[in-house]
Formats: sequence, structure tokens, C-alpha cells
Amino acid sequence: MSEVVSYNREGNIGVITVNYPPVNALGQAVRSGLLAALEQGQKDAEAKVLLLVCEGRTFIAGADIREFGKPMQEPTLPTLVNTFENSDKPLVAAIHGTALGGGLETALSCHYRVAVSSAKVGLPEVKLGLLPGAGGTQRLPRLTGAQKALEMITTGEFVGARDALALGILDAVEEGSDIRAVGLAYAQKVADEGKPVRRVRDITDKIEADKGSDVFDQFREELKKRARGLFSPFKCVDAVEAAFNLPFDEGMKRERELFMECMDSPQRAGLIHSFFGEREVSKIKGLPKDTPVRDVKSVGIIGAGTMGGGIAMNFVNVGIPATIVEVKQEALDKGLAIIRRNYENSAKKGKLTQEQVEQRMALITPSLTYDDFRDVDLVIEAVFENMAIKKEIFAKLDEVCKPGAILASNTSTLDIDEIASATKRPEDVVGMHFFSPANVMKLLENVRGSKTSDEVKATVMAVAKKIKKVGVMVGNCYGFVGNRMLHKRGTEAMALVDEGATPQQVDKVLTDLGFPMGQFAMSDLAGIDVGYRIREERRNAGQDVPASWMDKLAEQGRLGQKTQAGVYKYEEGSRKPVPDPEVEQLIEAFRKEQGITPREITDQEILERCMYVMINEGAKILEEGIADRPLDIDIVWIYGYGFPAYRGGPMFWADQEGLDTILAAVKKYQDTVGGEQWKPAALLEKLVSEGKTFGDL
Ligand code: 3HC
Repeated sequence: MSEVVSYNREGNIGVITVNYPPVNALGQAVRSGLLAALEQGQKDAEAKVLLLVCEGRTFIAGADIREFGKPMQEPTLPTLVNTFENSDKPLVAAIHGTALGGGLETALSCHYRVAVSSAKVGLPEVKLGLLPGAGGTQRLPRLTGAQKALEMITTGEFVGARDALALGILDAVEEGSDIRAVGLAYAQKVADEGKPVRRVRDITDKIEADKGSDVFDQFREELKKRARGLFSPFKCVDAVEAAFNLPFDEGMKRERELFMECMDSPQRAGLIHSFFGEREVSKIKGLPKDTPVRDVKSVGIIGAGTMGGGIAMNFVNVGIPATIVEVKQEALDKGLAIIRRNYENSAKKGKLTQEQVEQRMALITPSLTYDDFRDVDLVIEAVFENMAIKKEIFAKLDEVCKPGAILASNTSTLDIDEIASATKRPEDVVGMHFFSPANVMKLLENVRGSKTSDEVKATVMAVAKKIKKVGVMVGNCYGFVGNRMLHKRGTEAMALVDEGATPQQVDKVLTDLGFPMGQFAMSDLAGIDVGYRIREERRNAGQDVPASWMDKLAEQGRLGQKTQAGVYKYEEGSRKPVPDPEVEQLIEAFRKEQGITPREITDQEILERCMYVMINEGAKILEEGIADRPLDIDIVWIYGYGFPAYRGGPMFWADQEGLDTILAAVKKYQDTVGGEQWKPAALLEKLVSEGKTFGDL
């Protein structure tokens, strides 16, 4: 028998134990081990009931995702679950941690399921571009009916043990932490009461009740809005529907066919790249795993604006008190009122109780003096982008804060080393770039300065995890990883409109690619004044920044959503961008002023110029070591800018597009459009000449 699965008997219970850290995934060794253990249990005359239980932190968390994309090895999961279900001795699954995907499917192939109350179950395959491929789409609806099965399978959301019990997925929920003891007690009950083998495949009342229901079509309609551009959610509905239209064995076959279609789809590859990428980014090159991490038990935040307030919420949400400092009482009151309103809104939606709202508010200390930062472990400055002001602030922090406190800036573009130079402790200074709205967006771009200590780097990455963000460590340069690439795309998008495209045409190409919003809708959300101020500052610094029709918008006070007019116009209370003939006229006038004769611009040109310019910049970012790996860039874009996860992030997408195709286009635009942004990155040229991809780095 394999080492990862063992069999032993306790009294008249045959116990099959899986021990395959970290999450008992169903790799080949586990699958074959489980079959061997089952066989042993069947042959063991003393064993009346068999129990499946897992060691470590969790029940089986699913198929082994690392095996996907490789040739499938026997025994397959469907074989495993069918063999389990066919056992002629009653089989009990004892669940702790998370029974997910193939893990839950294995549990569903057992005859009884008991769990501890902290356990969760779910079929999250859809999040990986898949559908449950080992009977989940056929067995779950037999227990829950169509509606709930469709919800669970198309969202991939987990369900807590008590809810799972109410839904009929579990047979019992017990308090306690010793899963083996809980499982043994339940199995003993099954043995003592002489409970029979009970196969989910044979439970048909819910199938009969929902046969012919229009719930499937309703779900497909709903998915057109909720899962725009995605492949597998629709296949999930097809598979669940098969449970209602076909006999069990044929339903299983249909599920398998649909599963293989998903497995072969590029979306599956992109989503699995994102899954591992999200975990891989926490491992920083050159930073030893045992680097000490400072304890962050309290934070200080400078600025109670939208950013500062959102940042504070992240900390108090996990019980870390935050002191917010502002210059004026009025600004402080306004900021706190917004935080309270956000929490009250969550309470209205039932996500928080009123008591929790008060608890969180009580963790915030408003203040008008930096003296209140004396004891905090981390300060995050979130004032507007002005180097002189930031340096002044950091010099003050240096005087006030205790030794060992981390001094962070939420700057989205400015030089961390220059900010650090205002202090006598540059090793404690770091960038922590949050994305707006800071209490919602999952990305935290942590920026290392040239003198930032390893301990501080490790700590800010640990802080990201603590506040439930995805932290990515990047190097120091103008705009870091995300905004540096975004600015290139923005400049190109503006130029495309100069040359003849409409803003809505540019935005549509990007939303068709899967972005939640286009470049110009995003500018309206962020505020047209933001980009304007940056361009003006660069002009004042003597840089060659050409005039733009967007400057005119800012000068006319069309600042975006906040003034109900920017690149688009907005109805009162609506965030839906509506093309505005006034802007068309403004663009036409600008073209005349600049002597530009507009031309027809194809969607393909928009795609190439907006996206390839980013890929070329991404390659430069890698060359310069600003990002350690292509996946760091991918994760920044997925979690900070809504790059569709199913395309795996920009660098992963670029590999699919073909780096030779991209390089050829970059060279073409270098000749036709010009500008340093179209100078081919040396890394891109090197990869193409060697026939390699970003994935090979
Ligand atoms: N296969 C292989 N490795 C896995 C894995 C899986 N299914 N699930 C997690 N891991 C790895 C992670 O990559 C990570 O590895 P690392 O330490 O080397 O980075 C390690 O296990 C721990 O994972 P997390 O850091 O995510 O730990 P958490 O405790 O935060 O979360 C979890 C645990 C909730 C189980 C989470 O890892 C998770 O959601 N895993 C994916 C579950 C899933 O999607 N299952 C369905 C798989 S598809 C399937 O079953 C197909 C079937 O229907 C045929």
C-alpha cells in the first residue's frame, strides 16, 4: 500500500487514513492508495463499517491541480468514486477543514458523511475553469435539488457545515476538534444500528421533483450577466441538467465529456496559472524563508481621504487598531463618517451586525497630531502625490515614531528612495501601494527601496496576508509595475483617439478582452484630474508630454464620475458611462487644432497598441528587475486592474498570443507611431530569438 494512505482497524471499524500534506490532494499515489485501502477493508472480515478520514489540516481539498494538463494516470477519479460508492460495506466520510472539489466528490461517494462544525464543503472547480468531473454534478443535485446545486457549482462558493447539514449534503455535524474520534463514533453508530449501504446515485426524489423545471434556462440567462466571457460556468449548467435528463451512468459520461472540454480550454490554463501565481508571489526571490517578521499590532494612517479610510478599514476588519491623523478636524470627521457609512451599508446587507460595526469603529482613533503615532508598529502615509509634502511627513515620522516602526508610503508613482532619504532610517521605509477602493481591491503592491531591510520586506508581505490581500513585492521606479504599464496603455489609448478612434471603441476592445471596464471609463472613475495633474507635473519638470484632448476635459471641469461628466456623461446616481456628443465635438476641435486628419482605426490596431505596449513595458520591467518574475506582473494586473484571471495575466496572455507576433507588431509601431514606448525590449527580442516564452523564465 502507498505511504500516503493507510488502513487499520479499530474494533469493528476499518479506518482508511489519508496523509498527504499540505491539503491531501488526490494525486495518483492517493488515488491508488485509496483503492488499495478500500480493497483491504472489504476483505477484512472483522470490519463491519469503513471510515475515511484525513490527517493534517483538512479533509481532501480536491484533485491534485499540479497534475492537470499532463497525461491522466490510472486510476482516474471517476473510477475511484464509483468503486467507493459500490462498496458493499457502509462507508463513512469524516470531514474537517475543507472538503473541496474531488474531495467532496469522494465524500459524496461514501454512504454517510459526518463533519465537525468548523468544516466547509464546496465544488470550486469553476474557479479553475473546470466543472466537478468525478460525479459532483450528478450526485450533489440528488441531495440538494437543482437550484442549490447550480448555485454551488457555478459560483464555487463554500458552504459551512451547519448549512451543508440543512441542505442534506451532510448527515451529522459534531462539535469537537478530533476528527478521528468524531468519525469513529459516527461509524460505530452506523455499525451498531446496522445501517445499510446508502448510495447517493439511488436517491431520486429531488431529481423527480425538479425534472423539466425552467431553473436551468434561468441560470443560463443569469450567467450571461454574471459570468460574461467565461466558458466553464455554462458547461456546469449543462452537466447538472444531465443529472435530471439522463440515467445516472449516462449522466456521469456526459459530465466527463464536458469536463474534458473545460480541461482543454485555454481558460482552464489561465485560471490555474492565476491560482498558483497568487500563492507563488508570496515567495520572494533572495529572501530567506526564515527572515524574521516584525509584529504589527497597531497602525497609524496619515490622511482620512478615500484612500486613508479604506486602508484603515482593512486593519480594523482583522482586529488591528488604527490611528488616523489629519490636518483639520473637519477632514477627520468627514473621513470617519464615510468609514461608518461603509460599515453601516455592510450591516444593512446583513454582512455585519450592528455590534460588529461599533466594535470596528471603536478600533479607530482619530487624531490631529503625529504624537499619537509614538507607539504604533506601522505607519502608512496616504496623502496626495507630492514629493515635497511626503518628504516633510517622513521627516516628522522619523522624529516621532519608535525605533523599529515601519514607515510606509501609499504612493502610486513616486520614488521610495527619495522619500526614505528624508529619514535617518531608510531601512525601515517601504512602499505599500493599495488600490482603490482600498477596502475592496485585493492587490497590495509592496515596493522595496534600495535600502529597505529584508525584515521590513518580509513584514509587509506578512501584513498583506494578515489583512487578506494578495501582496506582490516590486522594485522602485516611476509607477512601479502596475501604473508604469497602465500609463503606457493610457498614452496609447489617448493617441488612438487623436488619430480617429472613439473612446467607446477603445473601451469596447478592452472590455471584449475581459476587462471589467475600458481605459476611459476607468479614467472617469479615478478622476480626469489625476492624469491631468501627473501630465502637468511632468511638463513642469521639462518632460516632453504632448497636449491631449483629455487636458481640455480637465480644464473644462469634466472630472469624471464625480462631476457626472468626463470622457462620458453620467445620469444622476448612475455609474453607467454614456457617450457624449459634446466630447465628440471637443475631440474633433482638438484634431483640427493639431492638424490631424482622422482615419479609420481597426479594433485589431487598438488591441495591439493598447496591449502590446504593455507587454513590451512588462518585458522592460523584468529586464530591470522591477518585477522578479512574469507571474508577479500577472498577479498585479489580475488583482489590481481587473485583468481577466481566465487569461492568466498579461504576460501569460502574451505567451498565448505568441511573442514573435508581438515583437513584429512592436517593431511596426516603432516605425509608424514612434516613441520610446515602442522601442523593443531587449528581453522580448532575446526570448523570440531563442524561441522561448515568458513562462520559460
Ligand atoms: N492541488 C495541489 N496543490 C494544492 C491544491 C490542490 N487541489 N490545493 C492547495 N494546494 C497547495 C497550494 O498550492 C499551496 O502550496 P504551496 O504551499 O506550495 O504554495 C498549499 O497547497 C496550501 O494551499 P493554500 O496556501 O491555498 O492554503 P490555505 O489554507 O489558504 O487554503 C485551500 C487551503 C482552501 C484548500 C485552498 O488551497 C484551495 O482552495 N485549494 C484549491 C481547492 C480546489 O480548487 N479544489 C478543486 C480542485 S479541481 C478538482 O477537484 C477536479 C475534480 O472535480 C475532478
